[in-house]
Amino acid sequence: MMKIVKTIEEVRAQVKEWKSQGLTVGLVPTMGYLHEGHASLIDTSCRDNDRTVVSDFVNPMQFGPGEDLESYPRDMEHDAALAQEHGCDLIFHPDPDEMYHDGFSTFVDMTVLTEELCGLSRPVHFRGVCTVVSKLFNIVKPDRAYFGKKDAQQLAVIRHMVDDLNMDIEIVGCPIVRESDGLAKSSRNTYLDENERKAALVLSKSIFNGMELVRNGEKDCAVITDSMKKLIASEPLAKIDYVKLVDMKTMQQIEKLDRPALCAIAVYIGKTRLIDNFFTEDV
Ligand code: PAF
Repeated sequence: MMKIVKTIEEVRAQVKEWKSQGLTVGLVPTMGYLHEGHASLIDTSCRDNDRTVVSDFVNPMQFGPGEDLESYPRDMEHDAALAQEHGCDLIFHPDPDEMYHDGFSTFVDMTVLTEELCGLSRPVHFRGVCTVVSKLFNIVKPDRAYFGKKDAQQLAVIRHMVDDLNMDIEIVGCPIVRESDGLAKSSRNTYLDENERKAALVLSKSIFNGMELVRNGEKDCAVITDSMKKLIASEPLAKIDYVKLVDMKTMQQIEKLDRPALCAIAVYIGKTRLIDNFFTEDV
């Protein structure tokens, strides 16, 4: 039977008991409002590990001023049902005070990878992500942790952090899950009204367009990104934040496709900022 706990002490006691029985533990860190993308992470964790913990915490530290912390969707009842259906054993659903006590003042701050792409328009974001993910790793002590490839930069940042700080945890990246019409699943899709939902399809269309060009052998990054930008610009409700091809390891922009690369986009549809991407090695 799946348990839902709110304190660090309860998580530690449960994981300690599992480890004393020689069981392996997978962690799926989430901010809740779970969808099929999260479900696929839980499925993969359950396949790889004896026990799966889902953390469900809207982390205030990774939101900048004026971002959507207050309006970020929350629905614990739905999350519990979905997590249980997919085989989760424990949900950790702490209050902000449990994670950040009075006087909290230690941060995990990365000086590479975080200043490109999303880091440009969200300057405090990755410090918040690295700090909370480190804390979750220390609380749960999982053998493996699961992250979606939709947040490709986040995945690269976490892999780098784990390597830099010698964390003994295997990081598993899982494929993007899409709606049947192509839109990448995201908790933020719920912000879109009917017209915006239609307009948001321009993200996946441009991603498929970029993939097609790479598949056909195009090596000039500007040709690929220009074509994608043109497509996005044809949608009046869309405003480009970035469309970039970057080195998969350094996240630095490249001109020629002569190494494994990430093509990443961020686009505002009305007020909602959505992201999507593809890795050239997956094309
Ligand atoms: O990807 C997310 O939902 C969040 O950034 C994460 C990894 C759960 C940290 O709060």
